[in-house]
Amino acid sequence: MTIAGNGYQSGFGNEFASEAIAGTLPVGRNSPQRVAHGLYAEQLSGTAFTAPRHANRRSWLYRIRPAAMHGPFVPFEQPGFHNDFGDGPVTPDQLRWSPLPLPQQPIDFVEGLFTMAGNGSPAAQHGVGIHLYAANRDMQGRWFHDADGELLIVPQQGGLHVETELGVLDVVPNEILVIPRGVRFRVALPDGAARGYVCENFGALLKLPDLGPIGSNGLANPRDFLAPQAAYEDVEGEFELVAKFQGHLWRAPIDHSPIDVVGWHGNYVPYKYDLRRHNTLGSISYDHPDPSIFLVLHSPGEHEGVSNMDFVIFPPRILAMQDTFRPPWFHRNVASEFMGLIHGAYDAKAEGFAPGGCSLHNSFTGHGPDAATFEKASAADTSKPDYIKDTMAFMFETRAVIRPTAQALAAAHRQRDYQACWRGLKKHFRAP
Ligand SMILES: [Fe+2]
Repeated sequence: MTIAGNGYQSGFGNEFASEAIAGTLPVGRNSPQRVAHGLYAEQLSGTAFTAPRHANRRSWLYRIRPAAMHGPFVPFEQPGFHNDFGDGPVTPDQLRWSPLPLPQQPIDFVEGLFTMAGNGSPAAQHGVGIHLYAANRDMQGRWFHDADGELLIVPQQGGLHVETELGVLDVVPNEILVIPRGVRFRVALPDGAARGYVCENFGALLKLPDLGPIGSNGLANPRDFLAPQAAYEDVEGEFELVAKFQGHLWRAPIDHSPIDVVGWHGNYVPYKYDLRRHNTLGSISYDHPDPSIFLVLHSPGEHEGVSNMDFVIFPPRILAMQDTFRPPWFHRNVASEFMGLIHGAYDAKAEGFAPGGCSLHNSFTGHGPDAATFEKASAADTSKPDYIKDTMAFMFETRAVIRPTAQALAAAHRQRDYQACWRGLKKHFRAP
């Protein structure tokens, strides 16, 4: 059984309102003595009560049963999904992985999460967990919420039908989905096997960047972010609620579907965004701007201009810069970069970085185009534009070092010969 979606509301951080049954939402107050249709009122706060108004996020839910109604939690064994990033030595090597293989046994979204790397912690409320998922069956009689971080889900293969307390979102590769901390949801797989990436953000909520001299339009435009309309089910049975809490998974019995919110209003909402709508900006003279020009969303850090996490994409674009090395240049950054590829090819690598794969270049680790890409781009005719058409790469970039997990370093899909891609770079230097 799946719940059909009721459509979307457009905007980012807006005060939305939606009701699946007319007359559900109270008028003039949030928690009247009696809610229409015999519903319970419940507030879901995603920021401190006293957060400044522009940053304050909360929603009021009008539901069949309060979220408090479930049995006791016991540990849920899913050893692949955690926040154990370790505190020992971290290799400064460049790292790359092939796509996570699709499962051979029936595996749902929660069972199919595999933690690759991360930093910070849910307890400290900064940093990120970086996970992959590979699943081939719907979550059945099971709902999940993550109390540790909001989930930025980046599908790479297969669509996701996601039923949340605030409504239904259907996403396909090239779209992203953000599920706030604590919001319960179920994932079904309308296309069968599905694979993708998840950034679990322990820090400040994701927001759109300020645009400075870019002006009032550009990059990801607010109207292209879509929040769901209310949708609910009234179902009873022997079910399970799975929670991620302080780095570990728990399960509790629940005798009804928690997707029972008939109406809601507020600004603490799940949302989706089509990356193909990004208004991508770049140089029209020479050189590249820094890749921060490709920012979609970021989790601000405690210092102005230094993010806990930046979500950056490398979408189709036109490169017209003259007398310029057009692919991403060789570089070393204070920031740390975890990259993934949704489809096509990434313009800094000739081969080896496959859709569904990922790479990790940590703080001050040198990286850049491989030998084949360097030779080709150095000889290219830059009087004509390059049309980068078939691609969608992305990066989770953080200020703190991204620590690969032991299971990621030991994984069969790790490319242990990754550094060989730079071995063929020739010495061109000739002293005059
Ligand atoms: Fe980089």
